[in-house]
Amino acid sequence: MKNLVATIPKIALKGIRFDFPTNKGPLPVLESIDLSANEGEFISLIGPSGCGKSTLLNVIAGLQDPTSGYISFDGQPAPRRLGRVAYMPQKDLLMPWRTVLDNTILGLEIQGVSRQVARDRALALFDLFGLRSFENAYPATLSGGMRQRAAFLRTVLTDREVMLLDEPFGALDALTRSSMQEWLIHLWDSLRKTILFITHDVDEAVLLSDRVYVLTARPARIKLVQEIDLPRPREYGMVTSDRFVRLKKLLLSAIREEARRATEDDGFGAWGL
Ligand SMILES: Nc1ncnc2c1ncn2[C@@H]1O[C@H](COP(=O)(O)OP(=O)(O)OP(=O)(O)O)[C@@H](O)[C@H]1O
Ligand SMILES: [Mg+2]
Repeated sequence: MKNLVATIPKIALKGIRFDFPTNKGPLPVLESIDLSANEGEFISLIGPSGCGKSTLLNVIAGLQDPTSGYISFDGQPAPRRLGRVAYMPQKDLLMPWRTVLDNTILGLEIQGVSRQVARDRALALFDLFGLRSFENAYPATLSGGMRQRAAFLRTVLTDREVMLLDEPFGALDALTRSSMQEWLIHLWDSLRKTILFITHDVDEAVLLSDRVYVLTARPARIKLVQEIDLPRPREYGMVTSDRFVRLKKLLLSAIREEARRATEDDGFGAWGL
């Protein structure tokens, strides 16, 4: 049931604009982005390739500052945001010379937690993340799904109230992907973090989210904000329900329109639609 008292969003973006400086002048990437996420909400962002999704997460994380606009955390302006959110970037960025265990504790080590304490904390979650018995393996010997789970465990261990996940299942085959989605639903049910999640997969966005933001082709603006009023707990079997299909159609038609625009503008298909 929705809380009737006005809630202060965990994260709010107001009028965010971001231009990349290039040698041909500023390249507008984000324009007039208004977005908010309440505590414990799961929000997905979808939009054509190259539209500015990863840039938006970089701005929220504090790796880039917006050209204009405001970002607040818990209702307070947040000009310094580095270290306040857990961030899983688009590439898993595992260090090849560190074992899986020592890769997962990287964020904790950077925060100054002793290696032994950090390892104990990580090991307690290895089972849940399907990584048991790979503690001392090196990243090169893992499957793509395991690498992503290791990168995700590292993000979860940084233990922030907000998690930014940039296509965490992007490189997975359909079967692994669907089991990872179910696994993430259960994990989120128990952790109750606020999650901003980038995906190209509409089924994934509908299945996981409370709300989906569809972005336009670059410069990214908000094209559509769609509440996902499916009951929770969610399970994979819902993808064939009438409600699910109705929501999927709405999102797909918005995406198709933008993909066409991106194709016309850039000469390539963003989603291959
Ligand atoms: N350092 C940079 N300098 C200049 N332009 C950049 C830089 N990084 C990214 N861009 C441009 O900004 C735009 C947005 O990039 P971004 O990586 O945010 O897109 P995206 O939506 O995440 O794409 P994808 O779905 O392929 O991951 C792209 O046109 C890209 O070329
Ligand atoms: Mg990206």
